[in-house]
This record gives sequence, C-alpha cells and structure tokens, in this order.
Amino acid sequence: MTAYKTASAIAGYKKITPSIKHTAEIRIGVPRSIPADAGCVGVPVGIDGAIPRQLGLDRATMVASGFDGKVGQTMVLPRSDGPTIVAIGIGEVDELDAAKLRDAAAAFARAVGKHSRLCTTLADVPNVPPEVAGQAIIEGMLLARYRFDSLKQETLGPRLTDLSLVAGSKRADAVSEGAERGRLMAAAAKFARDLTNTPPAYLTARRMAEVAAAIAADRGLGVEVFDEEALTRLGCGGLLGVNAGSVEPPRMVKLTYRPKTSSGRNAKAAGHLAMVGKGITYDSGGINLKPGDSMHGLMKMDMAGAAAVLSAMSSLSTLGCPTAVTGYLMCTDNMPSGSAMKMGDVLTIHGGKTIEVLNTDAEGRLILADGIVLAVEEQPDALVTIATLTGACLRALGDQIAGVLSNSQGFADQVMTSSQNTDELVWQLPLEKRYRKQLDSNIADMKNIGAESPGTITAALFLAEFVGKVPWAHLDICGTMYADEDESWRPKGATGFGTRLLIDLAMNFTPPASRV
Ligand code: BES
Ligand code: MN
Ligand code: ZN
Repeated sequence: MTAYKTASAIAGYKKITPSIKHTAEIRIGVPRSIPADAGCVGVPVGIDGAIPRQLGLDRATMVASGFDGKVGQTMVLPRSDGPTIVAIGIGEVDELDAAKLRDAAAAFARAVGKHSRLCTTLADVPNVPPEVAGQAIIEGMLLARYRFDSLKQETLGPRLTDLSLVAGSKRADAVSEGAERGRLMAAAAKFARDLTNTPPAYLTARRMAEVAAAIAADRGLGVEVFDEEALTRLGCGGLLGVNAGSVEPPRMVKLTYRPKTSSGRNAKAAGHLAMVGKGITYDSGGINLKPGDSMHGLMKMDMAGAAAVLSAMSSLSTLGCPTAVTGYLMCTDNMPSGSAMKMGDVLTIHGGKTIEVLNTDAEGRLILADGIVLAVEEQPDALVTIATLTGACLRALGDQIAGVLSNSQGFADQVMTSSQNTDELVWQLPLEKRYRKQLDSNIADMKNIGAESPGTITAALFLAEFVGKVPWAHLDICGTMYADEDESWRPKGATGFGTRLLIDLAMNFTPPASRV
C-alpha cells in the first residue's frame, strides 16, 4: 500500500457510503386532504385558469412578482400562522405529462430546500394517469434533493423525511402505487450517483465488486466475481490489457436476476435481457495520457455505465420484474506505468478476436468487448451496452441527450420508449457500416480507433463486431452522466443517467421479433 492510499483510507474510505444498503428512509403518504400539521404545501398553478385559494393572491399580483405559472417556476409564501405555501408552475394544463410533473416537483423540492416535510396536491392534476403522476412527482422531489455529502464535515441542508401526495379518493390508490415505484426508481438512481461521485481511490474495481456482491445478497440477485486469475482463464484480454498498467487488480462481476413466483419458485420469464456496463473506475487515458483539464477531473465517473447496470438490477426483484436479466460489470482503472499496454500492442478478446491498440485512451470498447462476447454466449433475446464511451457523443448531443446505436430497430424502439417514460433523453445515431473500414488493422483483426470522426459511430461499430446476431442497443452516456449545474431533478454532479431507463426497459421488455 502506498502512503497515498493509506492517507485516502484515513481521510474517508470508512465514511464513504457507496452504502450497500441504498434504502431510502422516507415516509410517503397519500392523504385525501392537506394534513393539519403539514410543514409546507405545494399547490399547482397553470399558465391560465383559476388560482388555488390557499395562495390568497390573484394572478396579476403573482405575474407582477415574476411568477407566471411556467414549469420550473415556484413562488414561496411563508406564513406566520400555518404551513408555508408554494405555488408550483405547471404550464399549460392540457399539455401536462409525466416529464413536466417531474420537473415541477423537482422545482418545488428545491425551492423549499430547508424543509424536510413536503406536502403537495400536484398528484391530483388532470390529464396524467394517477400512477404515472405519483411516480413522476416522487422521483422529481427525491432526485432534486439528492446530495453527495458523505465526504463533507457538514451535511448540505436537511434531508427529506416525509412526503405527502394529496389525492382524491378515486385516484388515491393508484397515486400510492405509483409513488412507491417512484421511491424505488429514485433510490436506484441515487445509488448510481453515489457510486459515480465516489473518488477513485475509494471506489476501485475490487471495492465495486464488494459492493455489487453485497447488493446482490441483499436484493436476491445471483452474483459471480471474476478476479485476475479467473479472467486469465477466460481469456478476457480486453479487460486484462486495460488493467495492465495498474497496481489495482481488475474485476468482472456477473449478476443474474430471474423472476420468481409468489411462492419463490422460478417463474417463466417474459424474455432474457443482457446488460454490459463500462466500469472504468478512473480513466487517466493510460500511456496516451489525458491532459490535466476539467474533463480529466471527471474520469472517476467513467464507471457510470456499470453503476447504472448494478443499480438498475438492484431493484428488479422488489419491482417484480417479469424479464430475466443478466448483467456484466467490467471494472478496472486505466493507468500509465511501466507495465501498461502500449500503442501498437495487440490484445486478444474473449472468443479470439485480436485488437491492435492504437490509442490506450480508447479503453472502454476493449473491456466491453469481453463482456459482450460472454453475454452473447448465453443467447439472450437482446443485449444493451451502457458506457461513458466517447467525448464525440458529448459534442454531438450535449449533456442532456445520450446516443443510442443499434442493430435492431425493434429493440432500439423499446429503448426509446423507456427513454420517454423516464425522461432520460436519447437520440438514435446511425450504425453506418461504410465507416467500418476505419477500424481495419494492418496486423490484427481490428484496431481500437477510427479516424478523427465520427467517433461515436466508429466506437459502436467496434462493439457491433462482437454482438453476433443478437439484437443490441448501445447507450453512449458520456455527456449525460454528469451535470455541470443544478437543473430540475439533476443536481450538479453524477446524474445516475440510465438507471431508470434500464429498469423501465427490463420491466417492459418483449423479445424483439427478428434477429438481424
Ligand atoms: N472515458 C472516455 C470518454 C469520456 C470523455 C467520458 C469525457 C466522459 C467524459 C473514453 O474512454 C475516451 O477516452 N474516449 C476517447 C476515445 C478516443 C481516444 C478514440 C475520446 O472520446 O476522446
Ligand atoms: Mn479513455
Ligand atoms: Zn473511458
């Protein structure tokens, strides 16, 4: 152990949570009317229509003070003789949907950041089914108030403890059901954020495997951890090659979820979905060292894909997911050293394909390749890969939209439906085979980089070489894994992007009709 590691351990390793129990300790109630002891009450106000009388204001007064009812706007009215009342903008009532409600609820939770107990009548709005509303509102509030403060000496503001969603008796049961789903979805996404925000000396590949094993035991998942020796036996030359420069050993974690009947027996699954996540716990670039800029400072987050897979799978049994899911977390850091892989080295991926490494910073595709071949050997009905893979994707789509590339339109459409359901935005890019020749190598089956552009497409074309005929979709979350500033339900820092999308995908999965 180096002095640095010892120092890191003393400073914070023990305090840090990737708390293996990511239970959200929060009470959620669905009362018929506003409770007398509510600390703070949020009421929806549209761009037009009546102003709820609790506000005691007319529209002209509110507009004059800058509140015109747009989604994202709030107006806080403290009272000396009762709960704080908050006007929550919901925009055009006819255009309301889950995403707008999530945004409105997030704005509300942020606006009353000093309160732990929130009550709102937001779930009683028209035009949104009650279970969808309940889920979106709870997600918005919980995700907006997420803070990663386990390494701070003082916590950042009070945590939420009680949430009440007031709903009429016709809607109450469904709101309650949706709210519980929202609680689970938010807890999973928050867990992914915790993992992704954790410094690299704390969250090594070994630690990631420990956390995954503990989560699996807690959540009824099967788990197998592959160390260096097991990976060598399997011939996982991609993961081992990327790990070669590190003093930390690599880990591959295989997680299995199988649906059960209420009596605990194996149920017939609605299909089998495989997920492979990039788990680079720190990407220095390797011998092709990254410059010391702010991007490099984010490279502890290069395991956000693996975090999304682990977090998503952690909630499948509680949610009673009907799909069988197998997940692979491909974990190592990417370091330069005397033993690191060099430009021009050739790695052999599990299954035998040889890869000439012409940029050690294009490491994600190397570790994913091993995981993809292993996943495909099990003949799943579909495969999804999720990775902070290319800076080019951030440049093309920005930090709000992930890239999706696929060999099966049927499966890509399922991913896009889940994207809509969760408001984790994606945009499909073409998997255009004409660019494939950029990956031709003089001495091996393929090289690991293409030309200057199109980087996101050539990275996906590289992965496509390993998926065989399995319907496959790849999510490039390079841009979306991190938020530069607080915005709606995404506080500055790791976003947990993909976690909710993957849960939704598994919950609604149907085997794509034809293999391509
Ligand atoms: N982890 C990076 C991609 C990345 C960049 C993620 C910024 C999040 C924020 C990836 O391993 C990488 O280094 N990609 C290279 C690929 C290139 C060498 C072909 C890139 O995008 O520059
Ligand atoms: Mn890299
Ligand atoms: Zn990387």
